[in-house]
Amino acid sequence: MKSHLSVLPPHVWVSRRRPRLRVRLWIRIRVQSDMPSRMLRRALTAIALCGGASAACAAQGADAALVARGEYLAKAGDCFACHSTPRGKPFAGGLPMTTPMGRIYSTNITPDTDTGIGRYSEEDFKRAVREGVAPDGHALYPAMPYPSYAKVSDVDMKALYAYFMQGVTPVKQANRATDIPWPLNMRWPLKLWNVVFLDNTRYEQKADKDAQWNRGAYLVQGLGHCGACHTPRGIGFQEQALDQSGRAFLTGAPLENWFASNLTGNHNTGLGRWSEDDLNTFLRTGANAHATAFGSMTDVINYSTQMLSDADTRAIARYLKSLPGGRSNDGPPYMPHPDGARVMLTGLPGNPGAHTYATFCMHCHGADGNGAAPWLAPLAGNPNVLEPDPVSLINVTLNGTGPLVIGGVPAPYPMPKYHATLTDQQIADALTFVRGSWNNQAPAVSAQAVKKVRSATRAP
Ligand code: HEC
Ligand code: HEC
Ligand code: HEC
Repeated sequence: MKSHLSVLPPHVWVSRRRPRLRVRLWIRIRVQSDMPSRMLRRALTAIALCGGASAACAAQGADAALVARGEYLAKAGDCFACHSTPRGKPFAGGLPMTTPMGRIYSTNITPDTDTGIGRYSEEDFKRAVREGVAPDGHALYPAMPYPSYAKVSDVDMKALYAYFMQGVTPVKQANRATDIPWPLNMRWPLKLWNVVFLDNTRYEQKADKDAQWNRGAYLVQGLGHCGACHTPRGIGFQEQALDQSGRAFLTGAPLENWFASNLTGNHNTGLGRWSEDDLNTFLRTGANAHATAFGSMTDVINYSTQMLSDADTRAIARYLKSLPGGRSNDGPPYMPHPDGARVMLTGLPGNPGAHTYATFCMHCHGADGNGAAPWLAPLAGNPNVLEPDPVSLINVTLNGTGPLVIGGVPAPYPMPKYHATLTDQQIADALTFVRGSWNNQAPAVSAQAVKKVRSATRAP
């Protein structure tokens, strides 16, 4: 059993590779055409046509409201990001996700009756989304974050079901089989995994907390599936904790050549220095005075958190700020440097990292490492820069990042790629300089570590 468990493809290995050039335009079109949402317009038209007098009309109005609610919840769950491809139709599936054993593809969740989920009953839908079991009984890979969705309430599942049945356009597109070879492609071990690791219980309100905290907890642990990326994995690749009762919850985790940051209250590597307002701004715009979103977090901002209501992102911020520091050893508290630009100049003679920084990075990130927030990420005191695991910093320097698109407008100065310009040693030296300057105190980065990320992220 153990050997089977150890080959399971967890969400943590999933990469969402998309052709880069096309994605920019596509996201822009998507986001723009989503606001005001087609669905909401359709719902309003239905109500208007009806005139609102008869009982049948009232029922239609209620239905439309349910569908609109479901559409909103689908955004909170970021279903679109995984179940669509750049050139494909919304929710028709087919997005490849890489696991160590081969690729798997997300499935068609449009209401097409042959190739999609059109024949699913509400019970079938609930079981697939919360328990990872399809109607024919086969187990889904936990690349579908059902261990988090298990927390979603019956009321919300009903609205999601209404949306996927009535609000999504059916698309005829057959699912692709996984590329995982026999016998690793057998799905029955996943059922054992569920027995051991799936906690199939709904979110329970905490009586000693207020409504806003409970709302935030429900969204973070459930539809937001933040822990699927931000919580470290255990021996069976399960998330080590699914809520704040476990110390490891949201303390940060490596994930397909990125590091999903520590979201607890740690002063240096966590969100200890962020206010609730800072956090809310980050979720709504992908940037604030402390950091700018990159890597797989851009998807989360592009398709999910920026579309939530302000009340909901504030609830998320409130809940996250209630998590005490999850790491016992976070180093001495970071203090901003009073004269950062001087550090740069005195660092120059004989320091190859300072030279590379001055030549390639300084015009954006500044001599004092403060950048020009919120457009250009500060590097001084940045929690990701202070994180012991440097993989995100290496990856973003080698490969830049996909565009952050807020309200249909792409970020003006995205981080460039340096994989063709700088050697492993130059990148290691520049990042070592960044991690040791302006009162940053994080371990040096080796050329070996850069080499590893370079080969792992090389385009196939
Ligand atoms: C992180 C990526 C990811 C996200 C987010 C995600 N899914 Fe999935 N989902 C998958 C993958 C991958 C599969 C296919 C798994 C397999 O084939 O074993 C899947 C399968 C499914 C299935 C089973 C379909 C079938 O073919 O029987 C349903 C239903 C589903 N997802 C609904 C949803 C809904 C609703 C949401 C949003 C609330 C969502 N998914 C969000 C990755 C994701
Ligand atoms: C698909 C994986 C993934 C999911 C899901 C995800 N994140 Fe992230 N997140 C990342 C990665 C990778 C980073 C590091 C890059 C960055 O800072 O933007 C990150 C960074 C962040 C940061 C910035 C932290 C810092 O110190 O700069 C915040 C805040 C955050 N995530 C909040 C959330 C919340 C809240 C959710 C759930 C609603 C969530 N994330 C879901 C991958 C993810
Ligand atoms: C054209 C402006 C520009 C240049 C030049 C530039 N960067 Fe960036 N960098 C950015 C932006 C913008 C971000 C935030 C991510 C994004 O939105 O693309 C960023 C993010 C980063 C991050 C992640 C910070 C965080 O929020 O955690 C690191 C590390 C980094 N850059 C290092 C470098 C290094 C090293 C160089 C030089 C080799 C460099 N950058 C050159 C614009 C730039």
